[in-house]
Amino acid sequence: MKKGCFICLEGLDGCGKTTQTKLLVKKLKKLGYAAVYTAEPSSGKIGQLIRRYCLHGGKRVSAIVEALLFAADRFEHVKNEIIPALNTGKIVVSDRYVYSSLAYQGAAGLDLKWIEAINTHALRPDLAIFIDVEPEIAIKRLKSKKSVMENLGTQKKVRSVYLDFVKKGELVMIDGNKSKAEVAEAILNFVTNFLEKSNLRGLKGF
Ligand code: TMP
Repeated sequence: MKKGCFICLEGLDGCGKTTQTKLLVKKLKKLGYAAVYTAEPSSGKIGQLIRRYCLHGGKRVSAIVEALLFAADRFEHVKNEIIPALNTGKIVVSDRYVYSSLAYQGAAGLDLKWIEAINTHALRPDLAIFIDVEPEIAIKRLKSKKSVMENLGTQKKVRSVYLDFVKKGELVMIDGNKSKAEVAEAILNFVTNFLEKSNLRGLKGF
């Protein structure tokens, strides 16, 4: 079966990730690539439950419950949306993926190895990009507090886990402090170079 390419964009709340993910898809399409946008939490039943119960329930639920629900949502997202699109040769660009679980639930104190273990069925992305913005700036960009994650203390810890994955070479860091257009261009350049150069790996588990 023909395989496309799976890319995810990661970052703090307020880093501009959703805008940049959508811009990337638009720009790739303009260049003639068959690209599709998707996001986590997904629009499926478990994703909707997560938004209601974990993110907008007023207070934070146990990190273990969060991690398990996000992993369950991810399994369905991969099976129902990502793999079918990849199998038709599409470039799937996800606004958040497994690194969000490692960063957010890891920052809440869970063992990263355990988070990886419950995400064994999550497909490894071909390319994972981290848009780096200082937590203080990211928080200011949020017009109104939307979820239980959006406080400075949490965002600082989350960034530090993301930076560890950058150091390990699992995430590619893009400077998110520049203008929207400059960040978009940096991401597009990186992705198009990657697409031209890479021999994409086959489908394999996380
Ligand atoms: P967003 O829709 O603005 O990206 O918000 C999703 C929130 O959910 C964000 O605060 C990060 C959090 N999150 C986790 O804690 N773990 C995860 O695995 C994912 C995908 C998101």
